[in-house]
Amino acid sequence: MRASTICVIGGGYVGIPTAAILSLRGHQVVLAENNELRLAALQQGNIPIFEPGLEALVEQAITAGTLSFSKSAAEAVKDCEYVFLCVPTPQDDDGSADLSYVMEAVHEIRAQLKPGCVVVNKSTVPVGTALLVEREISRADVKVASNPEFLREGSAVEDSLKPDRIVMGSNDTHTAKMVAELFANPGSATVITDCVTAESIKYAANAFLATKISFINEAAAFCDAVGADMRDLVLGMGFDRRIGFEVMQPGPGWGGSCFPKDTRALVKIGEDHGYDFSLVRGAIESNKNQFQRVVDKIEALVGDLKGVTVAIWGLTFKANTDDRRSSPAIPVVATLLARGALVRAYDPTVQPSDESSDLAGITISGSAEEAATGAEVLVILTEWTEFRWMNLSNIAPLMGKTNIVDTRNMLDPEAAKRDGFTYLGMGRS
Ligand code: UGA
Repeated sequence: MRASTICVIGGGYVGIPTAAILSLRGHQVVLAENNELRLAALQQGNIPIFEPGLEALVEQAITAGTLSFSKSAAEAVKDCEYVFLCVPTPQDDDGSADLSYVMEAVHEIRAQLKPGCVVVNKSTVPVGTALLVEREISRADVKVASNPEFLREGSAVEDSLKPDRIVMGSNDTHTAKMVAELFANPGSATVITDCVTAESIKYAANAFLATKISFINEAAAFCDAVGADMRDLVLGMGFDRRIGFEVMQPGPGWGGSCFPKDTRALVKIGEDHGYDFSLVRGAIESNKNQFQRVVDKIEALVGDLKGVTVAIWGLTFKANTDDRRSSPAIPVVATLLARGALVRAYDPTVQPSDESSDLAGITISGSAEEAATGAEVLVILTEWTEFRWMNLSNIAPLMGKTNIVDTRNMLDPEAAKRDGFTYLGMGRS
């Protein structure tokens, strides 16, 4: 394939892997990042986010001479045939996505774009944004495309190298095909569509996955109610190929920077267009209930939480990331603190010296053992591998009382019981 000149705007979770992968495919890529600290880190090959394998990928691209960095997007786009918008779209108070970073970037580059250039939006944006971008650019010689990103934090490299599918939307099919060609990969399906559909696919996919997890979380609560075993229930369901085993793991509720934001945005977009997406509204509600179910399990073991020391293992919204945005740990811990519990937490990505506001009221421990010491209940909230292999017979003597709430169903209940613990999982005990 012919090497193209590409600018990626935004050095975050989406921008960095996109830039690295396109440069390793032989394209000449410049990554524009206006935050000077981030930029300086990137220029030295340091990744400002925790993402396994990404640093090595960026280093490889820098060494290959196909990846460079710039502070100015306006400068960086000048010679580029493709410009990827990978800027954040945080959530506004009403649940809609805040488009200001996208529109600021477009405003900054519009006059500098090379004739024939394609501006490709990868940020998660409300349906109809491509049209707004097109209007803001307002140039007949520039085309716009929508290319939703489906990578997961923690497996961004693998997801970017081998995506299940590439969705490319443009109101000009030739443009969509041209941009899709940049990512073409044997084994990845390509869906060419219009912009509105591409934008909708992103929200629908995330909302579907979130709803699937909520179903599984409710199925676990159902197992608790009737005395069924959740693990066997998932096996019995998952061998049906129409259901499968992916995204079937019960937990403390879904979190992160995407599912909570995108489910709310989907409901809001529906409302704005006169449609009530009641199923997704239900999943959002169910997820809030899930945080409470975790607290209920803790109370079922220790009773009144006033003055009780609770050890928390894991604060991030899932393993292999240092991201605590909308982590289920935050509302769970907030409720524990509000009920008078003393909370001691350990997470491999959080230092005891960390004074972030979301950690207020929590004592951060330097190890899993330290967090457990003197606690009356141990609550696993994130599925970090080190918890799976923890020797519980060493943990039991450290604790005041030997109770475990395993919200990730990571441990073997029988082994935990043999080590003297009272064990509650999600849909199994
Ligand atoms: C999610 C989507 O999976 C990606 O496809 C999408 O690109 C991304 O959002 C985005 O829009 O940027 P991510 O938020 O990184 O990716 O994390 P997931 O691995 O999907 O997990 C989301 C939440 O669901 C986590 O809290 C996780 O613990 C929970 N989860 C996931 C479960 O409770 N059970 C499961 O079986 C799977």
